[in-house]
Amino acid sequence: MFTAGFTIMNVPINENYEKLDGGYLFAEIAKRVRSYEERNGKKPLSLGVGDVSLPLSQCVVTAMKEAANEMGRAETFRGYPPYFGYDFLRGAIRRHYARFGVLLDDDEIFVSDGAKSDSANFGDILGDAPVFVCDPVYPVYEDANIMAGRRVTRISAAKENGFVVSAKDFSAESAVIYLCSPNNPTGAVYDKNVMSEWVEKAKSSGSLIIFDSSYQAYIVGDEPRSIFEIDGADECAVEISSLSKTAGFTGVRCSWTVVPKNLLSRGRSINEMWARRQSTKFNGVSYVTQRAAEAALSYAGYEECRKNIDYYMENARLIMRALSEKGVYHTGGKNSPYVWAKCPRGLSSREFFDAALECGVVCTPGSGFGSAGEGYFRLTAFNTRQNTINATSALSSIL
Ligand code: MLT
Repeated sequence: MFTAGFTIMNVPINENYEKLDGGYLFAEIAKRVRSYEERNGKKPLSLGVGDVSLPLSQCVVTAMKEAANEMGRAETFRGYPPYFGYDFLRGAIRRHYARFGVLLDDDEIFVSDGAKSDSANFGDILGDAPVFVCDPVYPVYEDANIMAGRRVTRISAAKENGFVVSAKDFSAESAVIYLCSPNNPTGAVYDKNVMSEWVEKAKSSGSLIIFDSSYQAYIVGDEPRSIFEIDGADECAVEISSLSKTAGFTGVRCSWTVVPKNLLSRGRSINEMWARRQSTKFNGVSYVTQRAAEAALSYAGYEECRKNIDYYMENARLIMRALSEKGVYHTGGKNSPYVWAKCPRGLSSREFFDAALECGVVCTPGSGFGSAGEGYFRLTAFNTRQNTINATSALSSIL
């Protein structure tokens, strides 16, 4: 244990941290859950943070084992991975996009360790641009930009807007806009018209869209899986995506960011700047992980991983059925593993969170995603079937 020191550290610190609204949402929830565990001597059932519960698909495990064996033999051992990903994985990601008609070059794909980190780190190459996020929003987009001292404005994506933000009322110039479809937390999915309007608006206003497609594998309709399905997006957007929810990689860590070579700001190549940032600050993703990701993105591997997605979506149906039986308004859960529901009896998000925890169930309070989330809660479909059934039945007394 450290003892109290006698010197006073006086290095200036990042005062922007003072502007943050409390702790990171999911870390705060984890604290509350720990306190519940201490009080009750048992773990609550989690429909809170979107962490997967099913084991990795067999094709992924096999690829990891083979890669681990290679790492254990002198002739196939590898040291530092390439900064932006092995060619075999960049090729697999390129082929994955080609399946829905998006043609990329390998050097537009940057393999990384998480959509969360990339969505925050991308700010490293941006100047003092105004930032716009949807409300409710995945809190990382907002917090990371506040930490960097940028002005963040929330655009309401509330029920009256179908939980989707439209470009029609957007009038800022040279701005950064975060969009996420299927959306975390509401599960709303952007159709081609809305996305085309955003691309048009971004181009006409000299703005950049940071598009998070981490839940693209959950889309069942013909909505775009990628912003690059929209003409002109390669001149105004980057896309961040991940295998966390597609292939159960929350603990494995593998994602990518697509930065088109056509994307220029004031004559500077954003692709080259991101390459400069990544090669300076990031040492790549492990060989074993990249082989696992390659397996998950192969035709056969993707189909195998889809079985887990189908399983989770059956959980989503069970959650929605339980809410419907109690007449609780909800949305999402169709193109997304998240169900977004109105708190019953006029409870606030925090009140409902506390009541759910007393029933032994963790949800995520909607207010944690922004003021437009007040009065809502989010449930994830990522737990096991039995835990999902037990959790919805435990919640039924307070719905
Ligand atoms: C969530 O629950 O919103 C996500 O799992 C959090 C994350 O992906 O970081």
